[in-house]
Amino acid sequence: MTRWTLADVPDLTGRRALVTGVTSGLGEVTARELARAGAEVVLAARDPEKLDAAAHAVRAEVPGARLVPLRLDLADLSSVRRAAEEASAAGPLDVLVNNAGVMATPYERTADGFELQLGTNHLGHFALTGLLLDALVASGDGRVVTVSSHMARSVRGVSLRDPRDPGARYRRWGAYGQSKLANLLFTFELDRRVRAARLPVTAVAAHPGYTVTNLVHNGIGRSSPAPVGAVAVAVTRLVGQGVEQGALPQLRAAVEPGLEGGSYVGPGHPFELNGPPVLVSPPRSALDEQQAAGLWRVSEEATGVRYP
Ligand SMILES: NC(=O)c1ccc[n+]([C@@H]2O[C@H](COP(=O)([O-])OP(=O)(O)OC[C@H]3O[C@@H](n4cnc5c(N)ncnc54)[C@H](OP(=O)(O)O)[C@@H]3O)[C@@H](O)[C@H]2O)c1
Repeated sequence: MTRWTLADVPDLTGRRALVTGVTSGLGEVTARELARAGAEVVLAARDPEKLDAAAHAVRAEVPGARLVPLRLDLADLSSVRRAAEEASAAGPLDVLVNNAGVMATPYERTADGFELQLGTNHLGHFALTGLLLDALVASGDGRVVTVSSHMARSVRGVSLRDPRDPGARYRRWGAYGQSKLANLLFTFELDRRVRAARLPVTAVAAHPGYTVTNLVHNGIGRSSPAPVGAVAVAVTRLVGQGVEQGALPQLRAAVEPGLEGGSYVGPGHPFELNGPPVLVSPPRSALDEQQAAGLWRVSEEATGVRYP
């Protein structure tokens, strides 16, 4: 892989992409750059006012952008089902970017009773992808990009108990790490399954290193004692890379022609905290096929979404 920049995004005219979490940070940049390259972009977000603002922001930078707003709350399966139905009805889907996420939130539950981080970051996207699979297959060259994190390395595995069961003790960083490891286990299991079924879909993952977005502010920033939250936000601003750079791994993963299923793209500098997007190695735990199969079973049971 040579050094990859925005100039390498190919012409995407005639392609249709859906990005989750477009109201800020990495999703906003990803949606904008896909639109700039000519793709029709389905902007998926839960808050209608923020969704309007996101569409305005993209149009301000990319006049004539082809945008379709879509209401999607990943923490509510009925919303995921409605959104997937609406998006599928519009025809084939070429690229799905599972980007939205929350981090280190206090113990909360989704509308369906799942722990919030696993529910939003993994289960919501698991359901969405399964419900959009036919549209991705109809593209003839569908691609699913799921955004993980370095924090996937911070845990040994994912819990396979019912996601409605709060367990003995909730650790918010552990729960985040598990949800991000689940993103990787899901990607590699999806890759194995679409290969086995010979479906024209490529499943890949990406991570943005350490990037300045609203993620820290919305998680620990809001729920920790004021000084802790303020320090966390300040450190992120000091150390993190800019969001335009941070979005490059997921953009590359979304558009690079011929990228092999099961690839993982992240920042190329030491420790993968920043730098240009390159192929990186996933943690060994993400390649555990038994864990992946177990997570798949739990995810199907919890969401009621069974992959064809
Ligand atoms: N920034 C980093 O350093 C970093 C590092 C590793 C991984 N990541 C990953 O990158 C992805 C994007 O995060 P970011 O850094 O860009 O953070 P961000 O600025 O906080 O953006 C998160 C996005 O997710 C959306 N979202 C949250 N809960 C949702 C729900 N229930 N339904 C629909 N959308 C929801 C938010 O929408 P609202 O505006 O409605 O809240 C927002 O648009 C996440 O998956 C995160 O885990 C980020």
